[in-house]
Order: sequence, then C-alpha cells, then structure tokens
Amino acid sequence: MKNNQNKMPLYEALNNLKTQRIVPFDVPGHKHGKANPELTEFLGTKCMEMDVNSMKPLDNLCHPVSVIKEAQELAADAFNAAHAFFMVGGTTSSVQAMIFSSVKENEKIIMPRNVHRSAINALVLIGAIPVYVNPDSNERLGISLGMSLDSIKKTIEENKDAKAVLINNPTYYGICSNIKEITELAHKYGMKVLVDEAHGTHFYFNDNLPMTAMEAGADMAAVSMHKSGGSLTQSSILLLGKNVNADYVRQIINLTQTTSGSYLLLSSLDMSRKILYTEGKEIFERVIYLAKYARDEINEIGDYYAYGSELINHDSVYDFDITKLSINTFDVGLAGIEVYDLLRDEYDIQIEFGDIGNILAYISVGDRERDIERLVGALSEIRRMYKKEKKDLFKHEYISPIVKVSPKEAFYAEKILLPLDETVGKISSEFIMCYPPGIPVVAPGEMITDEILNYVKYAKKKGCQILGTQDLNVDYVNVMK
Ligand SMILES: Cc1ncc(COP(=O)(O)O)c(C=O)c1O
Repeated sequence: MKNNQNKMPLYEALNNLKTQRIVPFDVPGHKHGKANPELTEFLGTKCMEMDVNSMKPLDNLCHPVSVIKEAQELAADAFNAAHAFFMVGGTTSSVQAMIFSSVKENEKIIMPRNVHRSAINALVLIGAIPVYVNPDSNERLGISLGMSLDSIKKTIEENKDAKAVLINNPTYYGICSNIKEITELAHKYGMKVLVDEAHGTHFYFNDNLPMTAMEAGADMAAVSMHKSGGSLTQSSILLLGKNVNADYVRQIINLTQTTSGSYLLLSSLDMSRKILYTEGKEIFERVIYLAKYARDEINEIGDYYAYGSELINHDSVYDFDITKLSINTFDVGLAGIEVYDLLRDEYDIQIEFGDIGNILAYISVGDRERDIERLVGALSEIRRMYKKEKKDLFKHEYISPIVKVSPKEAFYAEKILLPLDETVGKISSEFIMCYPPGIPVVAPGEMITDEILNYVKYAKKKGCQILGTQDLNVDYVNVMK
C-alpha cells in the first residue's frame, strides 16, 4: 500500500512558513526579493519568497530528518524504489553519485561508450577504469543503439573483476537495451547495476512504455525529473534498489553536494512526483498519442524518417520509447543540425537537438495538436525549399574509441595544446563532444584518429555546438605530451 501520494510535504512546509511572516536575518541576502527589486520584478515575488535556505521547519538536504525525508519517501514509493534522494546538481550529480558509490580508484566499470559526459567525468574524478561495450549502430540512421546481450556477456566474462555495469535506459534517441537480462547477468557476477535514466522518468508512470530500472532489479537509477517529469531545470532524483546502503550513498552525495540546496528545485520535485503519480498514466497516454500523431504526419511528408518501434530487434534495440520523436534528415540532404537551425531561425520552433543526421523534438503534455501541426508544416516547407543532394553528407554517428590510458591519467597528465589538424595519432587529454547530446566523440585517454578529426570538422562546419575543450573555439586540443 502506497503512502498518501496526494501529500506534498515540502510544498506544505514552505506554505506554512509563508503564513508565519518570518523576518529573515539569514541568507539568501535578497531577503524575499526586497534587496533585489529588478530580479523580483523579473521572477515574481512568490518565487523570491520561496527562495529560502534550510532551517528547522524545512529540514536539511544533507541530513534529512523531517519534511525532505518524508518527501523522499513518497518519491521512493512512487517510483517503486527502496530509497530516493532529491538532487539539485542535475542528473549529472545523480550519475556521479551512482558511480562514486560503486567503484573506487583503479576498479573497473563496464559501460556503453555512448554514455553522457557526466559518467566519464566521474571516472576522471575517481580514477576508475572504463571497460567499454561498443553499442551496435544503425547505418541507415547513423545512430548508436543499445548494448547487445552477447557483447555485454562477453565483456562481463572477460572482466569478472569489474564492480559495476552502467546502462542507458533509454538513449537520447529512445533506444533501450535488454535491461532485465543485463541486470540479472551482472548480479550473477556480483556487479552493481547503475542505470542512467535521464530520459526515462516517464517509464515509471505508464505501462505502455519500456521497463524501468527499478522493475528490472537494478541497484541505482539516475532519473531526470526535469526532463520528462515536469520539475524545474537542474532537479533530479537518484533511486536506490533494496540491496544498496542508503546511508553510505548519502555520505557519498554529501562529498560534492551544495549545503544550500534550492527549495525551488526541491519543492518542484515534490510537486511533480505527486502529479506523476496521480495523473501520470493519462499524461503519458496523451504524450504517446501526440508523438504517434507527429510521427505518422512527418513520415507522410516524404524523405524524413521519424522512427519508432519498428527498430526493435529484441537485442540491441530491445525496446523503443515511443514518446521520443527522433527524425532522420539524411534523405532531405540536410544535416540534422541544419534542420534544427532552420526550424529556430526561420520558423520560431526550438527543438531539443540536431546532430549530423537526426533531430529530436521533445514532446510533452504541454504540447497541443496545433503545435505539432506547426512542426509538421515547417518540416514540410523546409523539405520543399531547402532539399539538397545528399551525396556530401557525412553519415557516421558512432566511432569506436581507441583507449590508450584511463580518463583520469590523461586528464591530469602533462599536456600540449595543438591545432586540431595536428592531433591525429595523439592521445587526447580532454573531451570533444557535440552538445546536445553530450556524448563524447573523444574522451580523455583516447587516440584521435582521422575519422574523429573529420567528424569534428564536419560537425563544426554544419553548426553543431562543439564543446569540452579548454579552447572555447575548438581550434586547439590538449593532448598528452
Ligand atoms: C543520458 C544523460 N545522462 C545524464 C545527463 C545529465 O543531466 P543534467 O543535464 O540534468 O545534469 C544528460 C543530459 O542531457 C543525459 O542526456
């Protein structure tokens, strides 16, 4: 029997505080907005009044014993987890807390190479060693898929000393691996299972969506409530399964977590959890309907390919998140990023991302049918007005890494700054990635090849936002001496 999911302990505590009309002689120094009228005008008085610091009636994120504890317990129940932590450092902090809790210096962690940068950054900080499972890729779409069961089996058997396996559920494009069997296999070898569910919050609230990490028996999952869950940007939840020591994980979180957690973010998590639990089924039914409607309409235009469940191959595409509107633009003769730019610059439509062959439009319950029609109309017009020969398009989305040293060793090594064109054959000391999706093309410790150089130059030319390097123009890259 679930706790009363209509309750919102943090919202209620903040509201109570407001009725008490307390005079603040504590931080934040804007004093309910009075010290910063311009900001208060911009954000609204209500928002500024709720921007308070921890105090006895509001509990403390680093050591929750009352309302935060209660709100976290409700969240754990809603997600069928043994424990939930509210996180205010983005899902980056959730991913990193999972890794810091499970592996130490020089210990191995098995992961697909198409992970978000936050996972490899964690390895830079902690000195753990990645063992990459190269995901399958789909040549037609130029995207990487999930991990096949055979490849993960082989990797686990060759690395029985690994401490953990990390799984994306789903990838940014909506692709899921066989999370249940991978979890069972990893557990058989005594490895922890950590799941990056940055794009999978909604899986927990509608039965027509792929399996969740908690249902699969995973040990931990990083859930981006601020993506499909409706909470404020930067808020996230870390879920734990029943065999994880929550007190130890809390200590790990507190190594890097702020001591001034934002109550705007925390209350948004509390309130979104309530809505997801009480209305999530209907909300995501509607999102599924809208995404299907959009997919069908876009596939009617011609040349665009809005892909869906037909990709399922019961292995490296074990399941597909049908709420994701991922569209391949190759046959229109335009790179995804070119369509992304045209949509924003010419049609006032901002989509989630464009890479070199695909775009992703994020659909939520906040969308209306007429918004979808506007997107479809714009895509149709772009095809009519900008379609090109596709012969010059670069297709490769996934490049197998050549790992030479650990991310930590490369990042902290003595380095030399070289012009991009002179880096082939060198070991990178930093990341290069397109953002979004934030999956490194090269990570510290990996060799830069011609293929990588061509990819980066092409992505740059097409207008992808490239980042990760010390040089903000990405004309120079730090490589190991
Ligand atoms: C797969 C994945 N994991 C983790 C993150 C990190 O999330 P955040 O931006 O909330 O730190 C992202 C962000 O896009 C992501 O795509």
